[in-house]
Amino acid sequence: MTILVTGSAGFIGANFVLDWLAQNDETVVSLDKLTYAGNRQNLASLEKDPRHHFVQGDIGDAELVADLLRQHHPRAILNFAAESHVDRSIHGPEDFIQTNIVGTFRLLEAVRAYWSSLGEADKTLFRFLHVSTDEVYGSLEPTDPAFREDNKYEPNSPYSASKAASDHLVRAYHHTYGLPVLTTNCSNNYGPYHFPEKLIPLVIHNALAGKDLPIYGDGQQIRDWLYVKDHCTAIRRVLEAGQLGETYNVGGWNEKANIDVVHTLCDILDQEKPRDDGKSYRDQITFVRDRPGHDRRYAIDATRLERELGWRPAETFETGIRKTVRWYLDNQTWVENVTSGAYRDWVGQQYS
Ligand code: NAD
Ligand code: TYD
Repeated sequence: MTILVTGSAGFIGANFVLDWLAQNDETVVSLDKLTYAGNRQNLASLEKDPRHHFVQGDIGDAELVADLLRQHHPRAILNFAAESHVDRSIHGPEDFIQTNIVGTFRLLEAVRAYWSSLGEADKTLFRFLHVSTDEVYGSLEPTDPAFREDNKYEPNSPYSASKAASDHLVRAYHHTYGLPVLTTNCSNNYGPYHFPEKLIPLVIHNALAGKDLPIYGDGQQIRDWLYVKDHCTAIRRVLEAGQLGETYNVGGWNEKANIDVVHTLCDILDQEKPRDDGKSYRDQITFVRDRPGHDRRYAIDATRLERELGWRPAETFETGIRKTVRWYLDNQTWVENVTSGAYRDWVGQQYS
């Protein structure tokens, strides 16, 4: 048996593939375009593993995807591939439209053709799992209840709008063509291999480099943080037992204001890697101009996933964030390679 994982060299996709192969022997075919966010080094430990087959390519390349499906005959496809950074989507939305909307559409078309060609038993077994975000629901007021699966979609950034469009396409392929799909909408992840353009890895990196820790606006925006390995277990559970055509919200019940997250990171770093001058990393915090259209609050109600599929996160924010800081301290070479762009040279040396 084989699964096809797209976006597998990115943050969550890489964690998913590493966890998957640590837990069972089912072969993984990885498809990743290797954009700036894709780093094959994340999967370096699988380089000689016969259970893993990496292909560089675009989910929007219909011919390539059709070939891969014919050749490897996967029983499931997990779609992590996306442009994922809100700030980049504000500066240049085009790539988000191309990958998140057009790419998902082309992938769905190739998958529909493949699925239609399967025998009855394989058809019944097959799953297309689409990995999405809580940002599709828009922004909450301070006292609003957390997002449930039946909240209406109100995306506010080009990123979240493009993810919302992809969710709608996935839904439509189920209702119109009967494609056996599942969708997960998860809150903000953090953990190993997180590209240091996002808040948590950026703050750890800048703190250690003696740079400013930029807080947008007043720092009171709230995100609901989930340790990435918990997201991976949720996805595995939904793949295994989710109801076809349904969506599942995934979250850690960990609502935190950005400024509190940054304070926590500074405090852990003060203990684990004190500054040479004995001062706190908090001294590096700088308030900067806010992100345009910045969503004020996200929060996930994960009751459905807990009640129907028995999933609970294993980490609290306190345990997960300590593990994350430790990982970055222990993997400074990875951070240096990513921030200097040297990971691209590494790919050249390794794979030329
Ligand atoms: P990421 O940016 O770290 O990784 C995305 C990966 O997709 C990269 O390896 C990139 O090379 C690849 N990719 C981009 N365009 C591609 C294309 N056209 N074809 C093939 N591969 C392509 O993102 P991430 O944080 O790992 O997010 C993975 C998925 O999870 C995304 O769909 C994202 O919307 C969703 N999500 C992320 C979070 C989060 O907090 N990071 C939360 C909820 C949902
Ligand atoms: P980010 O990690 O980009 O995730 P998202 O925008 O998908 O939630 O940002 C998390 C929060 O941190 C968000 O409210 C924006 C804020 N933020 C800062 O205050 N400073 C920064 O330098 C970054 C990258 C984000």
